[in-house]
Amino acid sequence: METIRLEKEERQLRQAAEILRRGGIVAFPTETVFGLGADATNPSAVQRLFQAKGRPADNPLIVHLAEPDDWPLAVSSLPTTARQLLSAFAPGPLTVVVPKQECIAPAVTAGLPTVAVRVPSNPVARELVRLVGRPIAAPSANRSGRPSATTWQSVLEDLDGRIDAVVCDNPSEIGVESTVVDCCQNPPVVLRRGAVTEAQIAAVVGQVSSPGNLQGDGAMVNSPGVRHPHYQPTARVRLVDSPPSADELRSLPGRIAYCGLQGLSRAAASRVSVARTFTSLEEYARDFYEFLRLADRDGAAWIVVERAKPEGIGAALLDRQTRAADR
Ligand code: TXA
Ligand code: MG
Repeated sequence: METIRLEKEERQLRQAAEILRRGGIVAFPTETVFGLGADATNPSAVQRLFQAKGRPADNPLIVHLAEPDDWPLAVSSLPTTARQLLSAFAPGPLTVVVPKQECIAPAVTAGLPTVAVRVPSNPVARELVRLVGRPIAAPSANRSGRPSATTWQSVLEDLDGRIDAVVCDNPSEIGVESTVVDCCQNPPVVLRRGAVTEAQIAAVVGQVSSPGNLQGDGAMVNSPGVRHPHYQPTARVRLVDSPPSADELRSLPGRIAYCGLQGLSRAAASRVSVARTFTSLEEYARDFYEFLRLADRDGAAWIVVERAKPEGIGAALLDRQTRAADR
């Protein structure tokens, strides 16, 4: 299959929408990471999506809508907490888990009676979903287990020839996936950390269950699909609290990459083949997956990663870092 590259202008977005309406699979930008879209009401389209990613069938997908008011397209009834969260954070990097509508293909929710929905804020994503006029299932646009793609080039690195088209756009602004909140429980439970923090959620719904039992990727132990590996580059990842010295780096065999908020000493820098020092937590989150992919392209055996402080977006980033290192 040839993967068509489309620009984000109206005529080509219409073409992308037409491919989706006919049961094709199309990658598109969102503010968090690139998504791989399929018509959520079309079982064979959804099956092709799972195949293209190599995604385990027990890991349900997030359904994307163009407008918060479109929820009846995917959802049978909206719990009060979900309504409050959508009015506070949609469009934006927040996903609510709520009772599902009949029309959503069972494979989308891995057979669960609930569905995860979000309204992306990226205007290209919203326009595309609006043009299709149906709910769009879209997991991150990467091969299952790999770091998510935050550029269209990284989408093609994983999926060229396996998907019908990619809508090209600038890199994702946030760089980590949306916060997932289960609104079928009271109080709501954070299933995956993201740019919308627990404190922001609690300020809207009063109380949110402590994410103390979140796993490394910020996903609950009982959240579907979390047993599978996530966010892993080919290189091994080592987490550190401060930049390693040249001596510490000597113990790692092969090519080494380093990223963090603190820079390496000159002696240590001479031992690594790629290094990146970020100027803020936001920039660290935005470019983290892309750095892992860059290190892989460089042939790194090890990627040394400075742990993010769990403040603001840092909590979500730390979750991803922990999962990337978990093997
Ligand atoms: O930012 C994002 O959310 C990106 C962009 C493309 O929108 N999408 C994304 O999708 O990250 P994906 O498939 O990679 O992650 C889906 C997450 C998983 O942690 C999954 O377990 C959870 O959502 N999820 C989906 N449906 C669920 C359900 N019914 N109940 C509980 N968790 C669910
Ligand atoms: Mg994913």
